[in-house]
This record gives sequence, C-alpha cells and structure tokens, in this order.
Amino acid sequence: MDLISSCDGKRIIDVGSGTTTLVDSLIDNEYDVTVLDISSEALRILSVRHGQNLKYIRGDLSESLDLGNFEIWHDRAVLHFLLKESERLSYVQNLESCIQSGGHAVIETFSRDGAQMCCGLDLYTYDEALLTELLGDKWILIDSIRHTHINPFGGERPYISTIFRRV
Ligand SMILES: C[S@@+](CC[C@H](N)C(=O)[O-])C[C@H]1O[C@@H](n2cnc3c(N)ncnc32)[C@H](O)[C@@H]1O
Repeated sequence: MDLISSCDGKRIIDVGSGTTTLVDSLIDNEYDVTVLDISSEALRILSVRHGQNLKYIRGDLSESLDLGNFEIWHDRAVLHFLLKESERLSYVQNLESCIQSGGHAVIETFSRDGAQMCCGLDLYTYDEALLTELLGDKWILIDSIRHTHINPFGGERPYISTIFRRV
C-alpha cells in the first residue's frame, strides 16, 4: 500500500492477483480496482469476498490482452513465473497497452539473490537492472526496495519491489 499510495491516481489493475488481501485495503482506500488472473478459481474466491466492488479479468499475461486504461499497474509475484522471452515481451506489451504516459507500474518479484524456485516452479528472478532492461526506455525507475518476505512455511524469500513511471 505504501508503494501504491505514492503513485498518482486511483484506477489500478492488480495483475496475478490470486486471492490477495491487498485488494481489501485498496477498496478501503477508495481505489477503483480491477483484478486479473489466469485462474478462474482465484477470481471466483475474490468475487465471493467482494462482488461488484471489484472488476474481474480472466487472462493470461503471456498473451495479448485488451485491458482498458489504468493509472497504476501492480504485480506482486507473477512476472517471475514468465520464463520465455516471448512471454515477458507480451507482459510488457500488455502493461504498455493500459498505462499511458505519467502512469505507474509497481512491480514486485523474487530477487536475483533469492530462491530460484517457488511451489515447484522455476523462476526468472530480477534485480533493478534486469527490470529496467525488460521495461525499456519508455519507463523510468523511480524507487526500489529490497525486503525479505517470510512465506507461510517460514521460508525467507528476498524480494525486490520497484516503482516505474511511464515517460
Ligand atoms: C504467487 S501468486 C501471487 C498472488 C498475489 N499477487 C499475492 O501477492 O499474494 C501468482 C498468481 O499469478 C497467477 N498467474 C500465474 N501465471 C499467470 C499468467 N500467465 N497470467 C496471469 N496470471 C498468472 C496465478 O494464478 C497466481 O494467482
């Protein structure tokens, strides 16, 4: 919430939302929230919790999607599952399709110096330079925080949380 509230705007898309409780805080803070996930079960669970207080998109970020317009893109823990370059490029194209100049992307992934697998899945992890290279020259890195997330099993998961602004 600290990272998101430092960005201008209230129209936000949370991609790879899962069943995150972040959306509860966003709604409490009067954000206009759209959630996107590849999992219809995750979206079903969120819809039971929030009904019409959220907008829902079922979609695969590694494919070309028609998303609409937002001021803030938030991703915690989906980008690092995209292993193929073509998937990562689609992710960036989807980001650019819905965040215009002046908008922000808050992107949080497992960091390069942390775990290289999660839930039995391989990861493509990041540092500031790799994220900046992936997003390209339409984006400026304006903040980056390193922190350690403790997962539900007690494991330490070093994270990188970044804010980019579209030029
Ligand atoms: C580790 S969970 C993170 C959930 C939430 N953002 C959080 O921080 O608690 C990753 C989520 O990304 C979704 N996901 C994985 N691959 C995806 C893709 N290609 N497109 C959209 N969502 C995807 C999964 O279904 C899952 O809900």
